[in-house]
Amino acid sequence: GKVRAKQYKDVPIKIPNWVPQAHCFTTEFKRHEKELLEAEVYPDDVWVLSYPKSGTTWVQEMVWCICNDLNFEAARATKISARFPFLEIGLQSAALHFSFKDVKDMPRPRFIKSHLPVSMLPKRYWEVKPKTIHIRRNPKSVAVSYFYHSQGIHYRGSMDTFLRSFVREHQFYSPYHAHVIEYHELRDCDNILHVSFEEMKRYLPSVVRKVCQFFGKSYSKAELELLYQHLSFKSMRDNPAVNFENPKGPTKGEPFMRKGEADGWKKELTPEQIHMLDEWTKERVPNPEHRKLFE
Ligand code: A3P
Repeated sequence: GKVRAKQYKDVPIKIPNWVPQAHCFTTEFKRHEKELLEAEVYPDDVWVLSYPKSGTTWVQEMVWCICNDLNFEAARATKISARFPFLEIGLQSAALHFSFKDVKDMPRPRFIKSHLPVSMLPKRYWEVKPKTIHIRRNPKSVAVSYFYHSQGIHYRGSMDTFLRSFVREHQFYSPYHAHVIEYHELRDCDNILHVSFEEMKRYLPSVVRKVCQFFGKSYSKAELELLYQHLSFKSMRDNPAVNFENPKGPTKGEPFMRKGEADGWKKELTPEQIHMLDEWTKERVPNPEHRKLFE
């Protein structure tokens, strides 16, 4: 169902007369909304926020290593879901392990992943303003990645059917564009650093440099080389600590680390599908400044 945030007056967003859109969640959401909004937030928390399939895990691993003295051994020894829990995963399916408690009980500094839209973050987030990385990714890449991800869990339709439901904003956390734009419009919040998947693909060292600076960390050239190695697609694909298993058994479809490309959609989508997604972005994003976020 669609859920619209009720309390959003504290959000320092740059959109005049902003009223958040309703976002797509499971029915579980309403039962836990209050608990979520009241959740504690600490100043030494580290948050990673995104729309699903935007490269969240990649950023989490980068941030965790940078904040933990590049301890790759510890990173490989413990699953990312334990080091960097997904705040609201319990809201996606009642069958999934309930996650608020994990986050609550984590030793500080806590590392927290979330796909919540701006309007649904815990109220305390806006008072405390913990350091946060937001990542966005091209809509066509997100669409393809989201299809394969959903197919691995529950989805039985074709790519075409999935894309049609995606542009109708029927997938979890949709609408996608509003999700990205709302985070972009928090650009004056200096606790939030914005990065993109494409930027990380193009030249990872420059993103790593920004993230190190943001957290006040500095590493030698040789140490950073090991970090780039650790964060490469091949290394992450072969690292069980950053891959996910399907809770319902072995995944039939694609692995979590599927392709890791910035322009794979050019081969994976038909011209008609590309056209449909481009028209959708044009319609949803009339503002030319905002349009740049989706190129
Ligand atoms: P693809 O399905 O296009 O391969 P999220 O973590 O938000 O769910 O995003 C998953 C996407 O990020 C997947 O995209 C995955 O392959 C990609 N990804 C993860 N680690 C990566 C890396 N080290 N390099 C490039 N892409 C990576």
